[in-house]
Amino acid sequence: MTYYTPGPVPLYGPDFTADPNAVYARLRQYGPIAPVEIAPGVAAHLVTDYRAALDLLRDTETWSKDPRVWQETLPPDCPILPMMMWRPNAMFNDGEAHRRYRSVITDSFSRIEPHHLRRQVATAADRLISDFAAAGEADLVGQYARPLPLVLFNALLGMPDHYGPRLVAALTGLFESADSEEANKGNTDFEQYMTELITLKAQQRGNDLTSWIMDHPAALSPEELVHQIGIAMAGGNEPTTNLISNALSRMLSNPDYYSTLANGALTAHDAINDVLRNEPPMANFSTHFPRRSVRFHGTWIHAHQPVLVSYHAANTAHDGLHTDSVRSGGGAHLAWAAGPHACPVKQPAMLIATAAIERLTSRLCDLELAVARRRLTWRPGPFHRALAELPARFTPVSSDGAGVTPWSSSSSSTPLEATSALTPPAFESRGDWEK
Ligand code: HEM
Repeated sequence: MTYYTPGPVPLYGPDFTADPNAVYARLRQYGPIAPVEIAPGVAAHLVTDYRAALDLLRDTETWSKDPRVWQETLPPDCPILPMMMWRPNAMFNDGEAHRRYRSVITDSFSRIEPHHLRRQVATAADRLISDFAAAGEADLVGQYARPLPLVLFNALLGMPDHYGPRLVAALTGLFESADSEEANKGNTDFEQYMTELITLKAQQRGNDLTSWIMDHPAALSPEELVHQIGIAMAGGNEPTTNLISNALSRMLSNPDYYSTLANGALTAHDAINDVLRNEPPMANFSTHFPRRSVRFHGTWIHAHQPVLVSYHAANTAHDGLHTDSVRSGGGAHLAWAAGPHACPVKQPAMLIATAAIERLTSRLCDLELAVARRRLTWRPGPFHRALAELPARFTPVSSDGAGVTPWSSSSSSTPLEATSALTPPAFESRGDWEK
């Protein structure tokens, strides 16, 4: 039986969501690059081969990240427009403009001390765990992995806690909606959050990401400021949620991890590396546009037409570069992309995910899935690999035990603000990320 059929393969809809590996296998029959649809009627190409992916990601002469010529061809209500349209930020610009925007992100995140970040993750985790600890059951996506990065970012940006739920609602609409009206509303609400954030910090600077970005030597304009914070938030939230929940689903369904909780066989770090290689949180992205028509690995691509990279398909091609061993840890993968636009916040993101999982599994040490892993459902969409929910159960614990571990006696009643002192004085890179 052959799966090959000419014509674009849809990356939306139930088939792709239910079994992306089957779709990637079908796409590989086209060669290193295949025609796809990323929304009904929106054609693109997808690179499924590891070496072809690197060729594209590193070749800035041929490929641009600027979508403006292409986006003019899309209807204004196209559901993927909010995700893919040009903005004055690192993701959608090339050359000097890109370097300037990117330096704002890398320099500002490098001011966060790893041990402060770890403490803030624990505080955010304890707050969320306290809400469901006494129930003995929880949806670890909806009640933990999805709100956690937002609660954390809201604090890192220096915003009062009650802004957190607004942020959750706006970004859910922006990232998850297939409906253009809802997606656009999410986009508008997110920009409104940003405006209020900037207004607050313009009145009074703090020891927070927003203030550092505002005072960065790149001297961003007010519009650029909104978009740099926006890309850190929107770009960071979705994949961090997926990294945490995909790793948790593996840990809670694999006896090798399960016994880890008791005897240290495999760690949260192993689960995260397993996910990065075999089920990357962003499955397909790195949209690039050829500056002129090119023949790329045997396929003609017209100028300004989108080509995405399938980190998932490239990682899992089993071409000898990779191994299925969970324990292997190392080994090349593209979950953070590669080249000049590779994720600039990889180390903090790894720390956040690891600390979030360790905090949860140390607080609720007999955590188990409430359904078999194969029955878990996934959110549709061409870009991410994201669980819709992760039902789990555990022995109920009193919520006032929050923060108590064998090694610490801090309490969830500690206000987040009290632990949010992000003290480093200057833009410089720091170590300690791996601890
Ligand atoms: C604290 C959390 C995170 C933040 C603030 C963040 C921020 C960013 C930013 C600003 C970019 C654009 C860089 C550029 O174009 O030069 C980016 C790119 C990227 N990030 Fe992250 N990120 C975070 C977590 C993650 C996670 C957990 C993953 C998945 C493992 C991830 C995967 C990627 C990928 C694949 C790209 C390239 C996207 C593209 O070029 O289209 N990020 N990230």
